[in-house]
Amino acid sequence: MMPVHTRPYDPGLETIGWTPLIRLHRVTEGIRTPVFGKAEFFNPGGSVKDRIGIAIIEDAERRGLLKPGGVIVEGTSGNTGVGLALAAAVKGYRCIFTLPDKMSSEKVRLLKAFGAEVIVTPTAVPADHPDNYVMKAKAIARDTPGAVLANQFYNQVNPEAHYQTTGPELWEQTEGRITHFIAAPGTGGTLSGTGRYLKERNPAIRVIAGDPEGSVLAGYFHHHTVGEGHPYKVEGIGNDKVPETLHVDVIDEFRTVSDSEAFQLARRLVREEGLLVGGSTGLNVAVALSVAREVNDPDACVVVLLCDTGERYLSKLFNDEWLREHQLLPSDRLVARTLIEHKEPDAPPLVTVEATNTARQALNLMTTYNVSQLPVVAAGESVGSVSEASLMAKAIGTPSSLDRPVREQMEAPYPVIDIDAPLDRFSATLSRETPAVLVQENGTLRGIVTRYDVLHHMQGLR
Ligand SMILES: Cc1ncc(COP(=O)(O)O)c(C=O)c1O
Repeated sequence: MMPVHTRPYDPGLETIGWTPLIRLHRVTEGIRTPVFGKAEFFNPGGSVKDRIGIAIIEDAERRGLLKPGGVIVEGTSGNTGVGLALAAAVKGYRCIFTLPDKMSSEKVRLLKAFGAEVIVTPTAVPADHPDNYVMKAKAIARDTPGAVLANQFYNQVNPEAHYQTTGPELWEQTEGRITHFIAAPGTGGTLSGTGRYLKERNPAIRVIAGDPEGSVLAGYFHHHTVGEGHPYKVEGIGNDKVPETLHVDVIDEFRTVSDSEAFQLARRLVREEGLLVGGSTGLNVAVALSVAREVNDPDACVVVLLCDTGERYLSKLFNDEWLREHQLLPSDRLVARTLIEHKEPDAPPLVTVEATNTARQALNLMTTYNVSQLPVVAAGESVGSVSEASLMAKAIGTPSSLDRPVREQMEAPYPVIDIDAPLDRFSATLSRETPAVLVQENGTLRGIVTRYDVLHHMQGLR
């Protein structure tokens, strides 16, 4: 173990920055390009925003705007609030924060834990509405004596803090070998400041932005116009307007990622890399992996920002119920097993009729178990299928067929799928002609999935 923190620090704020750079090894399997994560969750407030909290406060002090007993006001997605509140706690200032209601309740509680006052505002209002969290913060700063607006979306101290710290740290930690830097802008401070520093050291370094689907930033970068955004669930990144702290001149490329992919990757980073991170980190790493795959060069050095701790999102992306509620559970997790396990509790997993049984017996079974079709088995093997509709139709034409064995009047057997087959792979198989599929595990029939089961499950998702 390398010795770190070998001397005591002064109170609180000296531990901000100089976060570790960690090589990713599992999520990058099969990719030749090395990918390193800048682990910003090591900051004392748990996010990259600690860097700007202290920088903004010390700048306001230097400029004489913030005096003893002063108040710091900000519209914040949470992490900037923590960064400011942390520095304010150490330095003895009061904090008032406004924050949109889509933010995790954990974040609100966290800000309050640092002694900040928190005002929650509606997410679904236009950027220029007085209830918008940024507008609200401005009004509070204007009306409160001794107050300073941190103003992270306009305050150039924000990108400057990254120019002074994050950039030089990465240059030194990679010994100048960094070739790509990836982060998704919220204010753009991280990407702009770090990117500018790195490009000054080596203009060939590519600075790549991630953006959530629904944010207007990627569209602005590509078409120089601000389009219509729509809400998304990843927190802290993307925007519905273009902040002044986003310096597009240092950005080479923008890549858009869905909520679902961002969350899935964040979960993998925890389980496979032991890195407890949030959704914006998942999005950044999704971009980093696509870049690394394309670059395909063992001598390149891709660095991706790991923005904040996942502990802030335990009730959201780490909660299956929440993901399901927002239809964000990755479809490949919806496997046949899930459908079988979620049938009504008293329903038997698999009702079959023997090939030698009569149509009458088959129809009785269907009535007893309230199903409209059955697989036909012989010696434990699926050999055919019968449906209520076709047996009835035959019986109406030829009543004696009711006492004939199903073997003589059955239709083709249902397709057999593996218990771990994902829904999106077998749902297309289910049709008017194939109303059900049989599910096997290790060669043994375990259950049946019908069109009804799939529909039933989808309705539960809504
Ligand atoms: C979780 C999280 N990730 C990333 C960012 C983006 O950083 P920046 O505002 O420097 O672009 C933020 C900003 O609020 C954030 O809260």
